[in-house]
Amino acid sequence: MKMKENVTRRNFLATAGAAALATGLAQGAEEAPKGKTVKIIGVACSPRKGMTTAKAVQAALDAAKGADPRIEVELIDLGGLSIAGYSPKPPQDDFTAILPKLQDPALGGLIIGSPAYFRGMSSLCKAFIERCAPLRDPKMLLANKPVGVVAVGAFRNGGQEMTIEQIQAAMLCFGMIAVGGNAPAFQGATVVSTKDDISADELGLDTAKKVGAHVAEVALRLAPKGA
Ligand SMILES: Cc1cc2nc3c(=O)[nH]c(=O)nc-3n(C[C@H](O)[C@H](O)[C@H](O)COP(=O)(O)O)c2cc1C
Repeated sequence: MKMKENVTRRNFLATAGAAALATGLAQGAEEAPKGKTVKIIGVACSPRKGMTTAKAVQAALDAAKGADPRIEVELIDLGGLSIAGYSPKPPQDDFTAILPKLQDPALGGLIIGSPAYFRGMSSLCKAFIERCAPLRDPKMLLANKPVGVVAVGAFRNGGQEMTIEQIQAAMLCFGMIAVGGNAPAFQGATVVSTKDDISADELGLDTAKKVGAHVAEVALRLAPKGA
């Protein structure tokens, strides 16, 4: 009985919080001006270029683009690139060409995709995120921008949600706002690859699209006005 009361109270608080947020967004947040473009970059962090992670991130980007004509998208596929982790002396590698794209003021949000490797993000994904340190210091360039996460594994319960959590936790260090999508994509996109193919995973692709659409929606609402 006590538990039921708690659950009821928690449900009430969650509903009240969601309603307050919705009202705040509806009242306070003017969207990006008409004609102004907001860019969403998808980063695919599999060492295998053009494979399932890149395809799932592209599905999310396509949904983001389809959500509003003001959205522009670009896929950065890290497959085949050489990107070392953080070092006090920044290595001269393929990250150098990527950094300016992430520093672009038109950037409104990110979609980061990683394969689940032993139930966590790939080392390439971790290296990429570590090298994004210049986006925090001297200025928090990604602060208050949405990030959605896509994880692809070879199994239905292969650690996709843990992979998503790791990436979200890292991006909180950049002041980003972690977003999921509508049901069943609450936490992010959870995709299953069967023999290097995700086309049959309708549910997983649906989660990718929902995450992409939500990143676009939040990016438009939070884009600086008149910038
Ligand atoms: C080192 C390694 C570890 C993996 N660990 C997992 C895992 O824990 N869970 C899972 O579902 N799949 C695992 N896989 C499978 C990959 O997540 C899956 O093949 C994914 O589609 C790879 O992404 P890609 O096609 O973009 O390269 C692993 C693959 C490798 C190479």
